[in-house]
Amino acid sequence: MRGRTCLITGATDGIGKEAAIEMAKNGYNLILIGRSKEKGEKVTKEITEIAESIDIEYFVADLMLMKEVSRVADEVSKKYKKIDVLINNVGAYFAFRDVTEEGFERTFALNHLGYFLMTKKLLPLVEKSDYKRIVNVSSSAHYGIDFEFDNMNGEKKYSGFDTYKKSKLANVMFTYELAKRIEKTGITANCLHPGFVATKFGNNNNILWRSVISFAKLLMAISVKDGAKTTVHLACSDEVADTNGRFFADCKVKQGSSKAKNDEHNKKLWELSEEFIAPFL
Ligand SMILES: NC(=O)c1ccc[n+]([C@@H]2O[C@H](COP(=O)([O-])OP(=O)(O)OC[C@H]3O[C@@H](n4cnc5c(N)ncnc54)[C@H](OP(=O)(O)O)[C@@H]3O)[C@@H](O)[C@H]2O)c1
Repeated sequence: MRGRTCLITGATDGIGKEAAIEMAKNGYNLILIGRSKEKGEKVTKEITEIAESIDIEYFVADLMLMKEVSRVADEVSKKYKKIDVLINNVGAYFAFRDVTEEGFERTFALNHLGYFLMTKKLLPLVEKSDYKRIVNVSSSAHYGIDFEFDNMNGEKKYSGFDTYKKSKLANVMFTYELAKRIEKTGITANCLHPGFVATKFGNNNNILWRSVISFAKLLMAISVKDGAKTTVHLACSDEVADTNGRFFADCKVKQGSSKAKNDEHNKKLWELSEEFIAPFL
């Protein structure tokens, strides 16, 4: 296998798919993960037609389930010697609370725990690269909320919007803590807000929520191509080769929420996440 390899989660649509296309155009080999076999095959074909010379492999996994995150990370680890760029992109908004068969609230599982477990399991492969980048797709939704350690699974109260905001705050808290822990390894970890992007985000909800989100997208959203720019910038640009532990928007460093700057909270989130994912390692 030639060249650098980039792994992207949630790559069958939206920002993940667009980032995959751009990375392929930049000559990166791709490991893509999504939950639909058919959509994965379609995306693989589409990208192969655009960038014939790259290697591309698609893995099917429901990333809401930690056993699936673990399985797919093991499969990737068996086949690949290194990963140059790991992009944790998968994410969703759930208007109503439900728990997975593993007992985790869906937003918390997909948007945070999955990023944590995937990174933990693939870190040895990233370490073997001479490029070593981790990119976590968060959101500006992480502002204006604090993390609730006594309601991580939404068992006490649940609002879809607040839960989504907390999961995106968790992405930033996780990135800051990760950046500290990998400081001496040469790996960099950064997170980002992609913009409000005209993707299928939110379409998994009922007609009322879909209509509200679709109307907002119609009024304000940027194109998917523009929405993938900050992800691709963090994955490829020489400008950020030595940047570690920052939050980006519009391809520039921005102040993350002050709620993500509490070192004790970030450490606590890390330690609790380790407990949650321990059975799946
Ligand atoms: N769109 C925005 O305005 C916006 C703003 C800020 C942050 N973000 C963040 O950007 C990231 C990407 O969002 P997007 O807007 O591109 O969303 P999207 O268009 O809904 O795409 C999400 C991708 O994730 C996949 N996916 C969803 N659930 C999955 C699961 N359980 N297992 C495996 N794959 C799964 C989807 O697969 P299917 O094709 O099978 O559905 C799709 O490929 C998310 O982390 C989101 O929080 C988005």
